[in-house]
Amino acid sequence: MTIVRSSGSLDQLREEVRRAPPLPALSGERYAATHAAYEAASDQRSRLKEWLARELAPLLDGCDPVRVVGVGVGNGSVDTVLATALAVDGRSVHYTGVEPHAASAVEFAERLASLGAAALVPAVTIGKFADHDAGYPADLVHFVHSLYYVEDLSAALEHALKIARPGGLLMAATAPLEPLCVLTELVCPWGGHRPWFAEDVRAELDLRGLDVHTETLVGQLDVRDVLADPLGRGEAVFDFLVGARTAAMTPGIRERMLNHLHAISAPERPGRVPHPLDITIARVP
Ligand SMILES: C[S@@+](CC[C@H](N)C(=O)[O-])C[C@H]1O[C@@H](n2cnc3c(N)ncnc32)[C@H](O)[C@@H]1O
Repeated sequence: MTIVRSSGSLDQLREEVRRAPPLPALSGERYAATHAAYEAASDQRSRLKEWLARELAPLLDGCDPVRVVGVGVGNGSVDTVLATALAVDGRSVHYTGVEPHAASAVEFAERLASLGAAALVPAVTIGKFADHDAGYPADLVHFVHSLYYVEDLSAALEHALKIARPGGLLMAATAPLEPLCVLTELVCPWGGHRPWFAEDVRAELDLRGLDVHTETLVGQLDVRDVLADPLGRGEAVFDFLVGARTAAMTPGIRERMLNHLHAISAPERPGRVPHPLDITIARVP
């Protein structure tokens, strides 16, 4: 991955953001809609789905029943892939999603139920992870693109380690700060706390002396519409990238943000920026 650092201009951008009024937050509906647009503009999701079926599912071979807790499952579009890969040869799969956005949680349950796998038992908790009581030890607790949002990262990981059985797995798929999420981090705080990125997750797990393995999937995000028409057809992707309503951004801040996107674009594919995802797996002692 090529990373062009533009730290001087990022420092100026940070200063401008500090002086400007905070951007309006995304409503639950706007969040879900812009998330779909963002994923559609990237090939990261297809890489992640392949990885879940190819690499993660085999790590749970031999568990029958296999018990999964997915945290921040959204509409379940990645969970269907993992659930399908696990529900083979009549194996019993207990798959619980934890999701605070009610409409997404309902969609998650419907998607898993529609797989029609007789031995797949989907369940959903509508609420935050901090309030979730698993009721049984899980073989896998996963966080796919959801740890950014928890208020207390350390407490969330502790909770996951308690929910998972000894020898079970904790998996977190979280974007690193560079080169894209520096723009997200700049417009913080979100509801009073900064988002957590892959580096924070890894540091928390290392602190606990766990056996941790990390690999990075590098996708590409197509930001050509953002660069050409940030207030029109590129607005949804731009909103999701920074986690706020970008229409309210000052023209100066918008220009600097777009300059950063230009700077990190792949030279051979203008308007396509690296879209990395760090996947960290820890074995629970
Ligand atoms: C970027 S979406 C990812 C959704 C899904 N995992 C996927 O990859 O399609 C992040 C999800 O985390 C959820 N979320 C936010 N805060 C949460 C919390 N404290 N506990 C559990 N989920 C949370 C959001 O509602 C949202 O659906």
